[in-house]
Amino acid sequence: MRKPILAANWKMQKTIPEAIEFAEAFLPLVADAEVDVVIAPPFTLLDRLGAKLSGSGIALAAQNVNPNESGAFTGEIAPGMLVDLGCQYAIVGHSERRALYGETDALVSQKAASLLNHDIRPIVCVGETLEQRDAGSALSVVAEQLRGSLAEVASDRASEVVIAYEPVWAIGTGRTATPQIAQEVHESIRSVLGDLFGAVGGEIRIQYGGSVKPETVYDLMNQPDIDGALVGGASLDPEAFSRIVHFEREGSQ
Ligand code: PGA
Repeated sequence: MRKPILAANWKMQKTIPEAIEFAEAFLPLVADAEVDVVIAPPFTLLDRLGAKLSGSGIALAAQNVNPNESGAFTGEIAPGMLVDLGCQYAIVGHSERRALYGETDALVSQKAASLLNHDIRPIVCVGETLEQRDAGSALSVVAEQLRGSLAEVASDRASEVVIAYEPVWAIGTGRTATPQIAQEVHESIRSVLGDLFGAVGGEIRIQYGGSVKPETVYDLMNQPDIDGALVGGASLDPEAFSRIVHFEREGSQ
């Protein structure tokens, strides 16, 4: 069984006091959660938020990493530095990084492999643009991104990877993919993972991301190949994100 994984991507948001305030409100709301809960704050919050989350069972994640061990890479953060801070996960290849900072599949794949070498689980993001969807190429675009972004991941570590399918047209737009559209892509991702990693492909968790809200999470999570969510906007509010973590309760609303 794949354990559900609900992750917050705070992007470039929250100061230290705001993050502490979030944690104080959020922790009591999810104390009984039986799923994996992950928070990816900006780098500046990893230390203080990590201390606050320690012992809670909630995992800390980075939003990016440089694949090199150390060296002259001004402004970059190495995987070993994330280990220092207690990160268990790191997001790689988010569409904002692909679009705004030229991140390629090859670089994403190096980042994923480097993270695994440090026992940090990569959350590898893939997703098509609206133009690609309208052109009927969503499944092929996602399959190609997946193969490129996982090229350097060894089969014996693949079960530690998390995939996040995030259609670019759904991110921050309020336009969530329907559960049927999301499931169609997740099923196709599952089959590519099977090609790449054999039976291990069936153990890899695939999150959906793109305007996930408490109101939409239950029907998404009910799909057979949707194992979690990567949540931006709605994860900034402790009450909203706690409802997403308790997605099964939303079904009885
Ligand atoms: P959103 O962001 O939930 O605000 O659409 C999701 C993401 O970019 O990971």
